[in-house]
Amino acid sequence: EEANLALIYDKYKERFTTLQKEKGWMTEELYKYQGFWHQSKNVVSVETVMATQDTFQALPTDIYLATLPKSGTTWLKALVFATVNRNMYKNKPLSAHPLKTSNPHNCLPFVECEVLRTSPTYPDAYSPRLFATHMPYTSLPQSIIDSHCRIIYMCRNPKDVLVSLFHFANKLRGKFGDVMTFKEAFEMFAKGVIPNGPYWDHVKGYYKISIEQPTRIMFFTYEDMKTDTTNTLRCLAKFLGYPFTEEEEAKGTVEEIAKLCCFENLSEVNKHGTLSIGIPNYAFFREGKVGDWRKHLTIEMSQTLDQITNEKFHGLDLVL
Ligand code: A3P
Repeated sequence: EEANLALIYDKYKERFTTLQKEKGWMTEELYKYQGFWHQSKNVVSVETVMATQDTFQALPTDIYLATLPKSGTTWLKALVFATVNRNMYKNKPLSAHPLKTSNPHNCLPFVECEVLRTSPTYPDAYSPRLFATHMPYTSLPQSIIDSHCRIIYMCRNPKDVLVSLFHFANKLRGKFGDVMTFKEAFEMFAKGVIPNGPYWDHVKGYYKISIEQPTRIMFFTYEDMKTDTTNTLRCLAKFLGYPFTEEEEAKGTVEEIAKLCCFENLSEVNKHGTLSIGIPNYAFFREGKVGDWRKHLTIEMSQTLDQITNEKFHGLDLVL
């Protein structure tokens, strides 16, 4: 994968090094492509987005989980993987379930990474292929749009995304010794400069399509999932064409999946080890709470973000 990333970087670098650039959250700069900021030299990056747009072929049976980084992607991957594949594991002991030993990122890949693989994740005509993506709606490859496959979008309160990203970035930057201050993080977030951001444009892009095409795109929030995991999971399973049967309801399958994927369980499994890209597994599990921003933002910071959110979401029936 690393060799392929170097090849793709070389192939696309002329196209993206001419783009507007800003200091990034990690060690690499962010590039503005099609209105959104992207990392470089990373598995999910401006060059892999460009390559995906050029080459990726979607299937109508595919399922895409779209999120901004730090909106609960890892959790959503676990929930969808466990729900869609539940029959594969139903007669096996729970200890044999992949989520009992692997990071959800190893169970359900980002579509942006397919261009880096020597062979595709799924065999030909596999159904349904499950992919995650951080790409904004307007940058999705045309074949994903044309295939009319289903997309679910999970969004999270902007202040909690900011706090989560701040801690995540510092965990990764810590290795190089120069951590960022929260004030710096806040200013970048408010300017829209976050990986795959601006936050508001990313959310709005998917939200609008979900209103226009509710059978194709389901929009929900991290907060919905947190306050009522089982009911949100029921809606999600139904939307994806994998509704829970009466028999499963009676057996408590929904509760079992919610428990398998809960913060305590996943963070326990992922205490040790690292992903192939070098990020430690534990970095994806911090607090897993709603409203942690209250411990980090000053009143002024909170008001500034409220004001931006009100302006950007004006006219939308969207309260976060
Ligand atoms: P916090 O930093 O606020 O704790 P992503 O997966 O998109 O990178 O998002 C990471 C955020 O999701 C982190 O938020 C992390 O703790 C939280 N998270 C991870 N697993 C979770 C789970 N099973 N339930 C709830 N939140 C979870």
